[in-house]
Amino acid sequence: MTEGSTMIEVEGLSKSIRNGARTVDILKGISFAVPRGQFVAIMGSSGSGKSTLLGLLAGLDSPSAGEVRLNGTAISYLPEDQLAKVRGKTVGFVFQSYQLVPTLTALENVLLPYELNTEDANNQEGQKRARELLNSVGLSDRLDHYPVQLSGGEQQRVALARAFILRPPIVLADEPTGNLDTTNGSHVLELLLHLNRSLGTTLVLVTHDPVLAGYADRRIVLRDGAVISDEIQQPASFMVAT
Ligand SMILES: Nc1ncnc2c1ncn2[C@@H]1O[C@H](COP(=O)(O)OP(=O)(O)OP(=O)(O)O)[C@@H](O)[C@H]1O
Ligand SMILES: [Mg+2]
Repeated sequence: MTEGSTMIEVEGLSKSIRNGARTVDILKGISFAVPRGQFVAIMGSSGSGKSTLLGLLAGLDSPSAGEVRLNGTAISYLPEDQLAKVRGKTVGFVFQSYQLVPTLTALENVLLPYELNTEDANNQEGQKRARELLNSVGLSDRLDHYPVQLSGGEQQRVALARAFILRPPIVLADEPTGNLDTTNGSHVLELLLHLNRSLGTTLVLVTHDPVLAGYADRRIVLRDGAVISDEIQQPASFMVAT
C-alpha cells in the first residue's frame, strides 16, 4: 500500500438520460480524486444526482461521458464480466433501498458476497466474519430472520454488514443511517468510522445529515448534477455511545 495513493478518480463524469424527445442531464462533468483512507461525505438536495454518482462510482451504471478509475483501473467501459471481478474485490455498496435477497436470511445475505467471491468451501471464516459484523450492527439476535421479518432500519444494517464482508478497500454508502434512530445510527456510524480508521477503508457516504457529514474528512456538495463545493474539513471526534 502506498501512502496517499488515489483510490477513486472521477474525470469529466456526465450522465444524460433520454426522456422521450428530451435529454435530461443528470450529472454534468464531475471531477475529483479520493486518496486511500479518506472519508468523503456527498451532500446536496434531493434530485441533485448523489445516487446516480454513487452508482457510477460502483460501476453499477455507465456514464454518458467521462471515466471512473478505482484503484488505478478504469471501470466505466469494461465488459460486465471483468467489471464484476473488479467490483467484487474493490467495492462494498450500501444501497438507498437496501437490496437484500428476500429468500435469504440476514446471515445468508451478509455471507452472499463472500460465497460469490472466495474459494473457501465451507465458509467458516466467512460465517465468523458475518456473525461479527451483524453483532457489531446490533443484530446478533436476528441472524435467521428473512428481510420481510426485519424493520427498515434492521434491513439497512444487514445491508451495511454485507458491504463490509469482503473487507473491500472502498465502501460506497447511500444514506446508510437514513432510517435509523439515534442509538442505531450511532452504532452504524461507529462501525463505519472504525473500519475507515482501523482498516483504512476509503469511504464515500451520501447523506442529508450535517451531523453525520461532520465526521468526514471532506465534504462534496452537488447541485443540479454539478459539484458546487468540495472542502477538506477537520472531522468531528466521535464519542462511543454506551
Ligand atoms: N432513469 C432515470 N430517468 C430519468 N431521470 C432520472 C433517472 N434516474 C434518475 N433520474 C433523475 O436524475 C436526478 C438525480 O437523481 P438521483 O437519484 O441521483 O438524486 P439524489 O441526489 O440521489 O436524490 P435523493 O436525495 O432524493 O436520493 C433526479 O432528478 C431524477 O429524477
Ligand atoms: Mg438518492
